[in-house]
Amino acid sequence: MTSQTGRHFLQIPGPTNTPLPVLAAIAKPTIDHRGPEFGKLGREVLAGIRTIFQTTNPVIIYPASGTGAWEAALVNTLSPGDRVLMFETGWFATLWEKMATKLGLKPEFIHGDWRTGVDASAIEARLAEDKSHAIKAVCVVHNETSTGVTSHIAAVRSAIDRAGHPALLLVDTISSLGSIDYRHDEWGADVTVGGSQKGLMLPPGLSFNAVSDKALAASKKAKLPRSFWDWEDMLPHNEKGYFPYTPGTNLLQGLKVALDMLHAEGLDNVFRRHDRAAEATRRAVRHWGFEIQCRNEDEYSSSLTAVRLPDGHSADQLRADILARCNMSLGNGLGPLADRVFRIGHLGDFHQLMVTGTLSGVEMGLRACGIPHRSGGVEVALSYLAGNAGPMQVAAVA
Ligand SMILES: Cc1ncc(COP(=O)(O)O)c(C=O)c1O
Repeated sequence: MTSQTGRHFLQIPGPTNTPLPVLAAIAKPTIDHRGPEFGKLGREVLAGIRTIFQTTNPVIIYPASGTGAWEAALVNTLSPGDRVLMFETGWFATLWEKMATKLGLKPEFIHGDWRTGVDASAIEARLAEDKSHAIKAVCVVHNETSTGVTSHIAAVRSAIDRAGHPALLLVDTISSLGSIDYRHDEWGADVTVGGSQKGLMLPPGLSFNAVSDKALAASKKAKLPRSFWDWEDMLPHNEKGYFPYTPGTNLLQGLKVALDMLHAEGLDNVFRRHDRAAEATRRAVRHWGFEIQCRNEDEYSSSLTAVRLPDGHSADQLRADILARCNMSLGNGLGPLADRVFRIGHLGDFHQLMVTGTLSGVEMGLRACGIPHRSGGVEVALSYLAGNAGPMQVAAVA
C-alpha cells in the first residue's frame, strides 16, 4: 500500500513547497558575504521584503527560524519585569507566552477557546484598566497555525487606541505573511514577526522583524540582554546591504527569487489565490460533514484549514494512512488538539490542481479508514474552483 512514487505532496501549513526557481537560486554557489555581489543582493532583498510586510520602514532579517524572530521582537523592545498582554489563540500564542516568561517578562494571558481569534474588546478593557501603563506591549498572533483562525489586527490596533494606551503592538505573521493581507504600516504594528518557510515559499531558516519608528525608539531604552538579535548592530550594516555576522547567504539568494515571483504575481492576486484555495477546502470539508476548527466565518484562515474529526476517530491514523497511500503529508493537531484535528495547508507555491489533489487524497483516506462522511467533497471543490477560474480564463473559453 505504501506509495513512494510521484512527487511528495507537502500539504502541511508550513514549511511549504519550494518552487524550482527558488531551489535553483539556493543551489547556486555561495558568494562572499562581504563582497560587492552580495551587497547588491542584500540591498535588493532588504528593499523587496518591505512590500511584503506593506511597510516603508526597515525589516530585519535573521538567519533563524521564526522562534528567533519572536525572541528578537521581545528582547529589542522590552525590559526585565515588563508586563505584556498576550491572547491565547492556540498553540503558537501559548509558546510565545512561555517564551516571554522565560525571558523574565510578566505576561498576562487572556484565555481563549482555540476556535476564535483575538477578542479586541477584551484587550481594550484590560488596557483601559491599566491606568499606570504598566503593560508595555500587546502581543498577538495574526494567523494561528494550530487552529486556522485569523485575527483582525486592525481591530486590535483600534482597541489600543481607544483605550488611549501607549503599549507597543507586536504581531506574529509567520503563517500569514505573503498569503493573507497584512499591513504593518496601515495597521500600526510596531514589530511584525515573519518566517521564510510558509507564504514566502522558502525552506526554513530566515526570519524577520519589521519595525516601526516607535519600536526603534523603544529599543534604545529596552534593557533585556541581547546580542545576536540586536537591531542596533543590524541596521547600519543593512543600510549598505550587509550584515554584522554571516547571513544565510544561499537562503537570501532564494529570497530574491521568491520576492520576484510574489511581485510578478501581485500581492492582491496572491491573496486571492489563497482565499480561493481555502474556500474550496472548506466547501469540501463541510460537504464531508466535518466541523472546521475555526468557529467564525470572518476569521477563517486562507492559509490553512484545521478539520475536526468526529469523536472516536483518530486524525493521526488518517494522516498516517494518507501518507502511506498517497505520499502526502498533512499537519497534525497540536497540544489539546492532538489526534482530534488534522490541518490542510493551502499556502505558498500551489495551483488549483494541487488543492484538488490534496482534497482527493483526504477523501481517499477517509474512505480507506472507514471514517463516516458524505462522499463528493472533491466534486464540490471542483465546481467552486471552476466557477472562480477568473476573467481571463472565462473570456478565453467564450
Ligand atoms: C504562527 C507561528 N508562530 C511561530 C512559529 C514558530 O516558528 P518556527 O517553528 O519557524 O521557529 C510557527 C511555526 O510554525 C507559527 O506557525
